[in-house]
Amino acid sequence: CGIVGYVGTRPAARILVDGLARLEYRGYDSAGIAVAHRKALRTTKAVGRVDDLRAKVGDDQSSGKVGIAHTRWATHGEPSERNAHPHTDASGRIAVVHNGIVENAEELRAKLVADGVTLASDTDTEVLPHLIAQAAEQRDSLEDAVREALRVVEGTYGLVVLDARRPDELVVARNGSPIVLGLGDGEMFVASDVAALVRHTRQVVFLADGEIATITATGYEGGRLGPPTTVEVGDDDYDLDGHPDFLSKEIHEQPSALRRVLAGRLDTRFATSRLDGLHLDPRELRGIRRVTFLGCGSAHYAGQMGAALVEELARVPADAEQASEFRYRNPLVDPDTLYVAVSQSGETIDTLAAVEELQRKGGRVVGCVNVIGSAIARQCGAGMFLHAGPEVSVASTKAFSSMTTSFALLALLLGRVRDLSAAHGTRLVDGLRRLPDAVDEALAVEDEIAAVAQKYANARSMFFLGRVRGSAVAREGAQKLKEISYVHAEAYAASELKHGPLALVDATMPCVIVVPDDELVAKNVSTIEQVKARGGPVIAVTNADLPEGLADAVIRVPSVEPELDPILLGVPLQLFAYHCAAALGRDIDKPRNLAKSVTVE
Ligand code: G6P
Repeated sequence: CGIVGYVGTRPAARILVDGLARLEYRGYDSAGIAVAHRKALRTTKAVGRVDDLRAKVGDDQSSGKVGIAHTRWATHGEPSERNAHPHTDASGRIAVVHNGIVENAEELRAKLVADGVTLASDTDTEVLPHLIAQAAEQRDSLEDAVREALRVVEGTYGLVVLDARRPDELVVARNGSPIVLGLGDGEMFVASDVAALVRHTRQVVFLADGEIATITATGYEGGRLGPPTTVEVGDDDYDLDGHPDFLSKEIHEQPSALRRVLAGRLDTRFATSRLDGLHLDPRELRGIRRVTFLGCGSAHYAGQMGAALVEELARVPADAEQASEFRYRNPLVDPDTLYVAVSQSGETIDTLAAVEELQRKGGRVVGCVNVIGSAIARQCGAGMFLHAGPEVSVASTKAFSSMTTSFALLALLLGRVRDLSAAHGTRLVDGLRRLPDAVDEALAVEDEIAAVAQKYANARSMFFLGRVRGSAVAREGAQKLKEISYVHAEAYAASELKHGPLALVDATMPCVIVVPDDELVAKNVSTIEQVKARGGPVIAVTNADLPEGLADAVIRVPSVEPELDPILLGVPLQLFAYHCAAALGRDIDKPRNLAKSVTVE
């Protein structure tokens, strides 16, 4: 969901709707806006896209200089105008936009009904304006009323409150869901994501959990609020730049994204990498007995590739677990393990909760995060930023390859304080240097990949197969296809095929097989033969020389070094998913039912 707020000297409605448009990518099914004008609120809501809201808002709200707005992704209650935010109290004085979940909403709703309040929606959020309106009767400031109301609220929130009687301020509060202030010149902005702010300002203040603040056109006041920071992304980072959609733009940005990941981090002299943000000296690096990667979705598959790299290069046991599982079981937290929290957005609630659980139990956790200032980055306090630039499309591509590249750096660093030779280190440093250009080369065969995709896009289901270096690549490839094309895809270790899934293979089940040029090529060739023997179409993604005519389609990928090649082998699978989705006419950047970052339970 997305939040935008404005208080200043310009008409608020337009600024708010434009801000929402920037946040649409986070997932939405309805949108709304409330502007205060002449001590009354004007609220407009629409189901569907921000453009539907824009059409409804028109110019008729143009005079209010303060307002709040929201795009909603239904969790409680179906998508409808009555369930869309902003929610207001019965008198129409207080309006609230809210991300997160009020966990004791049932109980609070019952209490409000007992007090004679008529509830207008099915949402958990609606309790907030009613509670704040009740508290406002007894309090002098809106901030005090919000603080008082939140005392009885259990759950997570990032929220902005507008009081019709105080048209020169907004109150913001955060607990588990991001809120960022944008400092303008005589005007203030607030949003759940810097994407909505950078058009106006790069000076921002990230709220920490538990913080409440009052913002006015000229400033902000709040207990422990930190000083402003300058964000490194600009408004043009959110432009399509001639691409048909953000996914295509982000796939093609990978060479430059990887150059940024590597910038200043390769050490030729000592044949290693530098990751100063980890704050770990060589003695501490040597003391690490295990590395565990925690993340969700693509970040989890990136973690699997990271674990393979750490095991291979540093010979340190390593694994990857879904943060969403880790947080709910009772994990053994080992002081000699380095935990790596992996997240593009830095806001995924499951990953954040895993970090908090680890820290409570004395675990050492570093972040691998793209968004500077995000909750996970702040909570970890140490780690490696990706510097991949904003990733707008829901499906992760450039952040994914930036994550895996940064794990190669981590594996190299851990290896070089252990057994990895200087010569081996030099080979990897050189390989990493060549990686961005090799990605460029991998992207150059897009037309051929598109042709293969068009041929198979109508399949009901596909297998993605890979062994050892190819196995996490296959998993992420299946994830991409599912996310954006809605074609069912299942990843399997190629070696497991004969232990069950082979029963499903026939002429209608294409198998995408990832074949790295390593000592397992012969094994993969025999897997291909097994599929062919059952009539299954085979699409091979490979940098090896496969026997002529073996696969039905071969997607060629360049090589850098065998350990790093999985990063390259993933690139054509992004394009394959992209062109399957395009052939099927899907909404590529905004796949149904998904949100860019999941900040609710
Ligand atoms: C959501 C997205 C996925 C993404 C995952 C983790 O589920 O739909 O594409 O991989 O979150 O996001 P993060 O921001 O933590 O990397």
